[in-house]
Amino acid sequence: MKTYLVTGAAGFIGSNYLKYILNIHDDIKVVVLDALTYAGNLGTIADDIDNERCIFVRGDIGDAELVGRLFATYRFDYVVNFAAESHVDRSIENPQLFLQTNILGTQNLLEVARRAWTKGKDETGYPTWQRGVRFHQVSTDEVYGSLGVEGYFTEDTPLQPHSPYSASKTSADLVVMAYRDTYKMPVSVTRCSNNYGPYHFPEKLIPLIIKNILAGKQLPVYGNGSNVRDWLYVEDHCKAIDLVVTKGRDGEIYNVGGHNERTNLQIVKLTIATIHRLMEEHLLYRNMLKKQVKNADGSISIDWINDDLITFVKDRLGHDQRYAIDPSKIKAELGWYPETTFEVGIVKTIEWNLNNQKWVEEVTSGDYQKYYDRMYGNR
Ligand code: NAD
Ligand code: DAU
Repeated sequence: MKTYLVTGAAGFIGSNYLKYILNIHDDIKVVVLDALTYAGNLGTIADDIDNERCIFVRGDIGDAELVGRLFATYRFDYVVNFAAESHVDRSIENPQLFLQTNILGTQNLLEVARRAWTKGKDETGYPTWQRGVRFHQVSTDEVYGSLGVEGYFTEDTPLQPHSPYSASKTSADLVVMAYRDTYKMPVSVTRCSNNYGPYHFPEKLIPLIIKNILAGKQLPVYGNGSNVRDWLYVEDHCKAIDLVVTKGRDGEIYNVGGHNERTNLQIVKLTIATIHRLMEEHLLYRNMLKKQVKNADGSISIDWINDDLITFVKDRLGHDQRYAIDPSKIKAELGWYPETTFEVGIVKTIEWNLNNQKWVEEVTSGDYQKYYDRMYGNR
């Protein structure tokens, strides 16, 4: 049986990963460590935690005493580190928090793991490690910076981050690699492109657009909407991480992405068109619209769900133009491939949002409105 420490599992990708591994592995025990920042929601994983297989601990990955106690109690085999400040726009507002959590928090986890997992020294002075342990860092394609119209990020692309967020994630990757090279720590890193799917916090493009369409609000597109992202359904990312943690080679970096490049404007238009189509096909969904416009015959109108909702707003500072992943390595070594096409994934995501509006309301009930007004004014 393997025992996992999964950090940040009350957030978007971490919660999907937690559900995924609990579902596909019978013989595991998981301890979730999450600080429950604005991005973490206990309700998301309420059905998964506090039983024999999975327990929840609220706390900071930077808290050495707490993490040390957890290691002593549970004797982890794997650490999978999702915990992070993850939103680029927020990193532009408050860079220091990103450095604190993403770099120092990761280093704290590494250090506690190193002390717990090393047994002695070999004849050359390197530590000897407990067998079968692994520290996995969940990283991002943003560490590579920005592409022009052509080309892909490979694992050998030079690191050239631009935002405070991506600089902090890059620094964390370098610290992970320093532990690999200095102490021969068994580590792995995945660098994934933009995820979308269930439990995505509506400060990010796709869930924000869905939420605004359902409410009949304007859809803010930064700059001219030509920036390109490479979108991957979150479960495909979870599957990739699981493969790397359990079967990947020690010390390796794996890029994860599904060759699904779209401009932001394409994403927004496709989301509008898909919601319109779903409303046409399922009359019941129309009742779930927050903005209710009636036709002359009393039926609910959806004519207003169209591209006129789009509004171009001030561009993000230092906005990366294009991300695109070359996932050849993980395909060749671990047989990973994306199973969910964007056309299927976006319908699943919209339907999940329609059926889980209580979750959306819950996670946006706190500080969110203040954040939204600060970012977007009164749109
Ligand atoms: P998220 O913001 O939805 O969730 C982050 C989680 O970490 C939250 O539950 C939060 O409470 C927790 N957290 C924050 N600070 C913490 C701390 N100091 N101690 C403990 N817990 C803390 O993020 P996400 O989108 O799920 O991203 C998860 C990871 O995946 C991040 O490391 C991110 O860099 C990486 N990533 C994200 C994407 C994406 O598209 N969202 C793509 C590639 C990589
Ligand atoms: O590439 C992986 C990264 O993807 C992760 O490392 C980050 O944690 C994750 O947040 C995401 O970063 P992005 O900045 O690409 O995602 P976001 O959803 O914030 O923005 C996607 C694109 O949409 C980006 O070009 C900015 C644009 N955008 C975003 C918002 C929120 C808009 O045009 N309007 C918006 O309101």
